[in-house]
Amino acid sequence: MKNINNNSNVTLERNIAMELVRVTESAALVSAKYLGMGNKNLVDQAAVNAMRKVLGYVRMDGIVVIGEGEKDEAPMLFIGERIGDGSDLKADIAVDPVDGTTLVARGLPGAISCVALSARGTIHCPRQFVYMNKIITGPEAKDAIDINDTVANNLKNVALAKKRKVSEITVVVLDRPRHEQLLSEIRAAGARVKLISDGDVAAGIQAALPDTDVDVLMGVGGTPEGVLTAAAILCVGGMIQCKAWPRDEKERKQAVIDGVNLEKVYKTEDLISSNDVFFAATGVSSGELLRGVRYHTGGARTQSIAMRSKSGTVRWIDSWHNFEKLDKVSSVEFH
Ligand code: FBP
Repeated sequence: MKNINNNSNVTLERNIAMELVRVTESAALVSAKYLGMGNKNLVDQAAVNAMRKVLGYVRMDGIVVIGEGEKDEAPMLFIGERIGDGSDLKADIAVDPVDGTTLVARGLPGAISCVALSARGTIHCPRQFVYMNKIITGPEAKDAIDINDTVANNLKNVALAKKRKVSEITVVVLDRPRHEQLLSEIRAAGARVKLISDGDVAAGIQAALPDTDVDVLMGVGGTPEGVLTAAAILCVGGMIQCKAWPRDEKERKQAVIDGVNLEKVYKTEDLISSNDVFFAATGVSSGELLRGVRYHTGGARTQSIAMRSKSGTVRWIDSWHNFEKLDKVSSVEFH
């Protein structure tokens, strides 16, 4: 049963995250076929096609507000695209068919397929910027971070909140030349560093979950990825803070002309203004958050995560997929 309106106190009376898992599973299953084949567009296109098909069956009247792909002009679900079976559950949908297309193309770990859903008008993507500077941590240290403070102070405060030494805090950072200064500041502060080549959604979720290898994510990554991560953070607890990161002087000047406030800090609730958010993700290539697609005779196995912010329930879901049977019932070609 539905219960929808346009404000942030909306309640969706069913756990649609379970339906969303079928969406991310499909995208993961079809894109994983291209593991290590060196073509990230094939990976993305396969995932987008499967995702679009399966989203079409979800009982909702959804509007795509984040259709990842702008950054590399990759195939995407279009912003503003109407999706779902047209039922009267009015929702915003944010998708990243594969976060880490390069990881899959290169056969590297850590790629996931993910989707977030929230009531209509509650997902806000500051899309004037391709990139945002981000800081993310879990519930214990959520009040200890401040993106405007120094790296050293942030790490000191996270360590204090977690009752550890700074040397026992691990920061995950995208391995990019733009992070040279950040890395030297983290190292000077005495914290540990984990570099990843791609995939800051999975890494951001890991930074917020308890008992993982990382405590904080810092650095510049995609804006849509930041919003998707915010959906997961609303479910598991913790905090994301972001600030626009213009790529060059031209982008900075344009922003000023457009009247954009470059100093604005976007917190979790600025990115998603709802107390009932759903997030689902499935591993494409095995990583620390989720195992990737594994094939066996006649089928494949996937691992997913499904969350809802209102209940706070986080489910890890292992699924077996039987290709012969799916051939008869599914509109997606899985093998
Ligand atoms: P794609 O899968 O769309 O390529 O995104 C991967 C990713 O690593 C994101 O996780 C991250 O936010 C962004 O790219 C970083 O951008 P860039 O690779 O341009 O530094």
